[in-house]
Amino acid sequence: MKIGVYPGTFDPITNGHIDIIRRSLQVFDKVIVAVAPNPKKKPIFDIHERVEMIREATRDIPNVEIEIFEGLLAEYMKRKNAHAIIRGLRAVSDFEHEFMMALMNRKLDSEAETVFLMPSEEYSYLTSSAIKEVASYGGVVKDLVPPIVARRLRDHFQKKQK
Ligand code: COA
Repeated sequence: MKIGVYPGTFDPITNGHIDIIRRSLQVFDKVIVAVAPNPKKKPIFDIHERVEMIREATRDIPNVEIEIFEGLLAEYMKRKNAHAIIRGLRAVSDFEHEFMMALMNRKLDSEAETVFLMPSEEYSYLTSSAIKEVASYGGVVKDLVPPIVARRLRDHFQKKQK
């Protein structure tokens, strides 16, 4: 069984991430969405909320597992007997960061391969930060994120206004 690990902060998951998960399943038998706490990114949703949103958003996609992972990704890959790290490559601007991460992971474990998938072009400009910024000003994000995420963002920013 070919296992792919799709790591990220997912604060929050977007339709671009979902698109990558669906595409990954054409290459891998199982995809583990590995959610990193990543406190240095100062996430607005705690790790359990992020996992819950991913779980709800991927409910109808078979062969997806969601897990929290801490520590080094290369170590996690070994623990999971996974075959490759999955990353989305949206634009040339992603390349430098992804190149560094892929080579660092290979340095840590010579067998750690990274596979890059391109999201559908309609999502090629999406980032979680951009979604949060738009939502924080009351902008409409419902076409860009799963329904549960749109609701949680609305609740989050409404609460902040009070
Ligand atoms: N659709 C929409 N957005 C996408 C996307 C897609 N297909 N692909 C990437 N993104 C966005 C993310 O939402 C995120 O946006 P943000 O910065 O506004 O939050 C950004 O692109 C990339 O961030 P993310 O996916 O969270 O990855 P990251 O670059 O922060 O890396 C880990 C996260 C978990 C993979 C990385 O920190 C890690 O491996 N940590 C473990 C420690 C380790 O092993 N380090 C050594 C490797 S260098």
